[in-house]
Amino acid sequence: MAIPVTLSAAGKRVGHSPISDLMARALANPSLISLAAGFVDHGSLPVEATACVTSDMLSEPAEGRRALQYGTTRGDKSLRRQLLAFLEREDGLPRGQFDSLFDQMIVTTGSQQLLYLIAEALLDPGDIVLVESPTYFVFLGVLETFGARVIGIEIDEGGLRVDALEDTLRELDSRGELGRVKLIYTVSEHSNPTGLSLAADRRQKLVEVARAWSRSHQIFILEDAAYRGLTYEGTESPSVWSYDQAKDTVILARTFSKTFSPGLKCGFGLLPASLSETIHSLKGNHDFGSSHFTQQILGRVVSEGYYETQIERLRTIYSRKLKATLDALDEHLGKYGAEVRWTKPRGGLYVWLGLPAGIDTSRNGPFFAQCLEEGVLYVPGDYAYASEPGPVCRSDARLSFGVTGEDGIREGVRRLATALKTVSARSGLG
Ligand SMILES: Cc1ncc(COP(=O)(O)O)c(C=O)c1O
Repeated sequence: MAIPVTLSAAGKRVGHSPISDLMARALANPSLISLAAGFVDHGSLPVEATACVTSDMLSEPAEGRRALQYGTTRGDKSLRRQLLAFLEREDGLPRGQFDSLFDQMIVTTGSQQLLYLIAEALLDPGDIVLVESPTYFVFLGVLETFGARVIGIEIDEGGLRVDALEDTLRELDSRGELGRVKLIYTVSEHSNPTGLSLAADRRQKLVEVARAWSRSHQIFILEDAAYRGLTYEGTESPSVWSYDQAKDTVILARTFSKTFSPGLKCGFGLLPASLSETIHSLKGNHDFGSSHFTQQILGRVVSEGYYETQIERLRTIYSRKLKATLDALDEHLGKYGAEVRWTKPRGGLYVWLGLPAGIDTSRNGPFFAQCLEEGVLYVPGDYAYASEPGPVCRSDARLSFGVTGEDGIREGVRRLATALKTVSARSGLG
């Protein structure tokens, strides 16, 4: 007889990872067109640049040994200095402006690790996190594991509706629950899953709102800027973090996964001083430092200009893929009029598709099954919604144009449209 396993409360709470199942399916069937995985464009991965800096580094024995040794928990000092300079350049600020934040910068194993560390540092079961609706579903999984109560806030073309956020805070206050609100999470640039960015004129206001409602304790904003840099049209607004003059409210999470290479799995964060020591200690528990080797590579990638070259290249490639996606959606789904809607992002890797309410896009619904039959994969939209305020919308889909080529994208969207036609006819909708 099997001996029973008594899992921890967190172990019991953790759900299965929805994306692993989708990835396994895509890998198992090469004829399936994946508009699901958040993988990056494969052909453009910077092999030569990485080979160049790695071989330079290893050709200098002292440097090579340094890279192959453990580093520090907070991250390599010279990389952290470079990253501060990188943020200054992005914001058009003079060099040295962010020097005082040196100890608040932490290098992480992808930005996912920072998201996890923040949840670990702040959340007890029942604590409240306010998120965009829809939001990055992997973070929803983290929040579920910590037993947080997650409440979705309405978005529109300008991202998070700050007025709706205030309404929710007011309502929580009136119910005596404001004390449980710990975090407001926003994917500020070309969000995963919608591709939409937080409007420039909402950013300052968002910081003010978090501050105004931080009455008995600090309510932090977690700004996840994973897609910053991947803007294909127009300019990028200053980060939400840049509006936090006192640097006490906004936590900034950044990553090189989408803009250089996910295989290097390197991210970094800027922390309010009040959180810095706790996050440092928790990271010590995780791994006492992200790969030192990877950090040396990235340091060289940034200082030798390879990062800038790569991001320029990616902007060209992805803007074409985005156009291919939007054109194909127009061609194949435009005929449905307002019943079928999709976002029109100016960057990032995703388009958010909304189907008529009667079309169930969830993992066990008829549309997903029909798409598999047609040979196309998407991420079911319901994964990206918090259970509150509910009911969870089950007729959306996230389409990623990251890894599939332009022809594949066009064919994938055509297959989606065929599946929609079949399922609509079956359910008497079309
Ligand atoms: C919004 C968002 N945040 C964070 C991450 C985590 O990425 P990484 O840990 O590779 O930096 C992702 C990855 O897809 C993402 O889409």
